[in-house]
Amino acid sequence: MKVIKTISEMRQWSRKTKMRRQKIGFVPTMGYLHEGHLSLIREAHKHADQIVVSIYVNPTQFGPNEDFDRYPRDFEHDEHLCRNEGVDIVFYPHDEEMYGPFHKTYIITENLADVLCGKSRPTHFRGVTTIVGKLFNIVQPDIAVFGQKDAQQAIIIKRMVEDLNFPVQIEIAPIIREADGLAMSSRNKYLSPRHRKEATVLYRSLQLAKKEYANGNNDLESIKEKMRKLIESESSGKIDYIEAVDAQTLGTPNPATGEILIALAVYFGTTRLIDNIILAKRLNDKKTREPKRKN
Ligand code: PAJ
Repeated sequence: MKVIKTISEMRQWSRKTKMRRQKIGFVPTMGYLHEGHLSLIREAHKHADQIVVSIYVNPTQFGPNEDFDRYPRDFEHDEHLCRNEGVDIVFYPHDEEMYGPFHKTYIITENLADVLCGKSRPTHFRGVTTIVGKLFNIVQPDIAVFGQKDAQQAIIIKRMVEDLNFPVQIEIAPIIREADGLAMSSRNKYLSPRHRKEATVLYRSLQLAKKEYANGNNDLESIKEKMRKLIESESSGKIDYIEAVDAQTLGTPNPATGEILIALAVYFGTTRLIDNIILAKRLNDKKTREPKRKN
C-alpha cells in the first residue's frame, strides 16, 4: 500500500493503472475510520481491481461554528486499517494541495442541498459536492462507494454525477451499526457515556417508524410525532429535524409510488448525530397487491 500526498502523483498513478486496463475503485472519507468505512472498501473490492481511499477533512463542508478543528484524526490507525483491507493507495493531501489561495469555484446541486441537513448546515453540501468533484477529477475512479448513512449526501452525489457527466459508477452501501443499533460515525467519539447510551433511541425511533408503517399507518405526520415523543421521553437529545421525504428526490413522499426516506438529526450535547431508514413502496402491501393468479 502506498500513501500519495500530491495531486500530480495521484494522477500519474491513475493514468498508469488505466493503461494496464485495471479498474479503479474509490472510497472518499474524512478519516478516523470505523467499520462503516471498511464496509465501503469491501464493497469497492467487488467492483474494481485497485482501491483508492482518500483521507481528507474537507474544510469547505464545515460551517464557521462547526467541529472542523476538533474533528477526530488518527492517520496511523487509518493507514493500518486500510492496509488490512487490501487498499492499494491512500490519498492523503494537505489543505494547500486541495485548495489554492484563489479558490473560487463550487458545485451546487439546487434544491437538494437546501432541505434536511442543508437547512441547518447551509453551506455543507456545496462543500461536499465541490470536494467530491475535485477528488473524482484527481483520482479518476471507475466506481466510487458512498454510505447510506449520509442518505442526502448519497442522493446529491448521484445527481451531480448524472448532471455533470462524471464517468463514475456510484454504489451506495448499507448503514453499519453498533450492536445496540447506533449508526457508526467518527463523531460518536464525542459522546459522553450518558449521551452514548441515550443515542440508541435514534435507531429505536426509526424502528418504530418502520413498524408503524408496516402495520398500515400511512399518516407520516403521526409517525414523525411518535418518533419525536419517543426521543424526547427517553433521552436529553435536542431534535434538529425528523423528516419523511421521497427517497429518490427528497421531495414530497407518496407511499403508493416511491420509497420513503425517514431521516433525522439530533443533538446530544454539542454532538449532532444523523440516521435514517427507508420504508418500502406500498405497492407490495397486502391491501394494494393484486390477487395472486393460480396457474
Ligand atoms: P465520512 O463521514 O468520513 O464518511 C465517508 C463515507 O463513509 C461516506 O460515504 C459515509 O456515508 C460512509 N459512512 C460513514 N458512516 C457509515 C456507516 N455507519 N455505515 C455505512 N457507511 C458509512 O462523508 C464524508 O466523510 C465526506 O462528506 C466526504 C464524502 C468524504 C467528502 O468530504
